[in-house]
Amino acid sequence: MLAACGGNQTADEPAEPAENNDPPAEKPADKEDEKASLEIFSWWTGAGEEEGLLALIDVFNEKHPEIEVINAAVAGGAGTNAKAVLVSRMQGGDPPSTFQVHGGAELNESWVAAGKMTPLNDFFDAEGLNDKFPQELIDLVSKDGNIYSVPVNIHRGNVLWYNQKVFDDLNLKAPTTFDEFFKVADTLKKNGITPLAFGDKEAWTATHLYETVLLGHLGAAEYGKLWTGDLSFDDAKVKEATEIFAKMLDYVNEDHSARNWQDASQLVADGEAAMNVMGDWAKGYFDGRGLKVGTDYGWAPTPSSGGMFVVITDTFGLPNEIDNPETVKEFLSVLASVEGQDAFNPKKGSIPARVDADASKYDEYGKAAMEDFKTNDLGPSLAHGSAANEGFVTKVNDAMVMFVTQKNVDHFIEQLVAAAKEL
Ligand code: GAL
Repeated sequence: MLAACGGNQTADEPAEPAENNDPPAEKPADKEDEKASLEIFSWWTGAGEEEGLLALIDVFNEKHPEIEVINAAVAGGAGTNAKAVLVSRMQGGDPPSTFQVHGGAELNESWVAAGKMTPLNDFFDAEGLNDKFPQELIDLVSKDGNIYSVPVNIHRGNVLWYNQKVFDDLNLKAPTTFDEFFKVADTLKKNGITPLAFGDKEAWTATHLYETVLLGHLGAAEYGKLWTGDLSFDDAKVKEATEIFAKMLDYVNEDHSARNWQDASQLVADGEAAMNVMGDWAKGYFDGRGLKVGTDYGWAPTPSSGGMFVVITDTFGLPNEIDNPETVKEFLSVLASVEGQDAFNPKKGSIPARVDADASKYDEYGKAAMEDFKTNDLGPSLAHGSAANEGFVTKVNDAMVMFVTQKNVDHFIEQLVAAAKEL
């Protein structure tokens, strides 16, 4: 999707034909009056996501009416389509002014390693940002001592969402272990309700669910070893986790392959399914549909992952080959500010990346997530680019497509072991 914000003209909208008495269009004076423009590239188009982005752009527009913002969002969860478009633009020497990229391997092993990003150390110094973000986030956006992007948020990946009314009617409590999950799921099934909403039209959602099972079954320390090569994917625990994952897939809606993450969340919102496992952008989706946490929907860490927090951070940086770096820095400054982050995150479902944001702007879920981020064991996300490089993520996503239909654990493990050679 391509759209312009702030009442400005879209990049691809044809210009109005000039009336005869209009001044000639190419007058040199017009050139001086030409608005600077800023193209923001992301995949935030759905409920909650787009609202967050537009709220951030509003803050920017207020401060910089002289800059035209072009919202170049490309639909598709987790960047399914946006990332391919970005690669071709970057390779073609046509980078957007700034683009959404996950902190971790996705930033560092792709764009930074390819020499496509400008270090932002001076920007961080000038804006006084060095002590405004948790060190874990600074590390995720740094390589070899240089900082390459600005985190706008922290999403939690390992969240189980449930329809409050369905749970209340059946007197159910949020499961905290896999055993409890399967008990709750059996009760739901007996009562004719789909236990787990799932939408793997885009394969990343399966990888997302799988990583939460790995985390829950292995624990944060062993889970972390998978990404450093210190634990092999053919370890017995990984195999057990894969079997649990396969069993969970027995409880999903039949039309899962036709749904994306929003469509799956919708099943829970409407009470047609009871639970789903999704990052807290699903909260942005629920809230965007007018639902309230604690009343309409509840949440818990995914089974056996209490005390652990899968960290996903969306960040924006400064590509090398752009002609408006100062304009981009104006945007990064707003994105890094308390005001910008507190406009964006309450709508997005995430918590602010800044340590000094205004907690009163966040509801009970947001406040709990802020506390958990500070006290839990943190882990990286595979599905969202921080745990491993893009090549590995793509191979896992591809293997998922077959696994979800065939549930052949041994074959899947073999594929993971082969793919891990790319780590
Ligand atoms: C993630 C991203 C989130 C959200 C989600 C669904 O990769 O970090 O901000 O957009 O995808 O699209």
